[in-house]
Amino acid sequence: MQLTSKLPSVGTTIFTTMSALAAEKGAINLSQGFPDFKPDARLLEAASNALLNGSNQYSPMTGLLDLREAIAQLIHRHYQRTVDPLDDITVTSGASEAIFDAIAALVQVGDEVILFDPAYDLYEPAITLAGGVCRRAVLTAPDFHPDWQAVGELITDKTRMVLINTPHNPTGSCWRNEDLESLWQIIKDHNIMVLSDEVYEFIHFIESAVSVHKHEGLRQRSLVVSSFGKSFHLTGWKVGYVVAPKALSTELRKVHQYVTFCTTTPLQKALSDYLIQAPEACDALAAFYRDKRDLLRNGLKDSRFTLLPCEGTYFQLLDYSAISDEDDVTFCKRLIDEVGVAAIPISVFYQTPPVGQRLIRLCFAKEDITLKDATERLSHI
Ligand SMILES: Cc1ncc(COP(=O)(O)O)c(C=O)c1O
Repeated sequence: MQLTSKLPSVGTTIFTTMSALAAEKGAINLSQGFPDFKPDARLLEAASNALLNGSNQYSPMTGLLDLREAIAQLIHRHYQRTVDPLDDITVTSGASEAIFDAIAALVQVGDEVILFDPAYDLYEPAITLAGGVCRRAVLTAPDFHPDWQAVGELITDKTRMVLINTPHNPTGSCWRNEDLESLWQIIKDHNIMVLSDEVYEFIHFIESAVSVHKHEGLRQRSLVVSSFGKSFHLTGWKVGYVVAPKALSTELRKVHQYVTFCTTTPLQKALSDYLIQAPEACDALAAFYRDKRDLLRNGLKDSRFTLLPCEGTYFQLLDYSAISDEDDVTFCKRLIDEVGVAAIPISVFYQTPPVGQRLIRLCFAKEDITLKDATERLSHI
């Protein structure tokens, strides 16, 4: 039998590799992006009640109505946008499924999709599997803001989608209103939609951070993707959702209904019970993570690393060029061995990593004690 891979250049992700190495060597794991602390006890209790009290069968394909109504309230609370829970909201098995469904449903063979370099690693394989072609616009350190003229130059009559992500993984940069407006000016006279990955929507540290939910023009032709994993410290639950106008939601649902049909029912029930009880649940998330970011940054201020700006997400970039001229993968492996801290080399997020760039990513969604221990170790290299 001859097997032809549809994704020949995809191997085991660096997250799996670094987490496995960290576990093997007993290193502090600041590589993969997940919290090492517990979610709100009320959520765990709601999940346990849902399991014990019978929410164990298929739920409606688009998500439990109570949850979709609670999501509509959440969107109204944070963005003053009114969305229809019936037509505009679809609950998915994590943001990952939402992104895959959106691309599978809306990108046709030969369509071009503009994304940014660096970008979250899921986007490119999803576009390739759909037969689409990726066109990358470069984001340059240290602030990683888009060069809108360069983005405009990538538009052709085959461009069908722009895939954006703010707050941005892996760089921690956040877009401003000017960025959304520039994007709108570029696409408004073309048949181009936007897939906006906003999984870190509530984790930003600047007043001027923005969401597509708040842009009148863009939101009419965008799918906005969110993740309860990021907002409620529940990455293992894999529950997310997409908000999009009816025409886009209808197409997305055609794929969603055959990929998973529905997302784990008791977890949806727990999330809706919790959101009804605690509609303010996301209000303090930014302050919570700002303290952790500052703890990490203060702990490293006398180290030989240079700290890049961190406006959002729970990731901090460090420049290690004063310490070593090794490539970032080699440096991260040595950090695990010699310092006992696991980080992520950011070259893995690039199609074309900039020559000579020496950056690693640390996740600060960790207990304060873990962060103190890690910064102590990192200050000695
Ligand atoms: C930018 C970005 N998008 C999407 C995801 C996937 O989210 P989920 O775990 O809800 O599938 C992640 C997870 O790390 C992410 O960082």
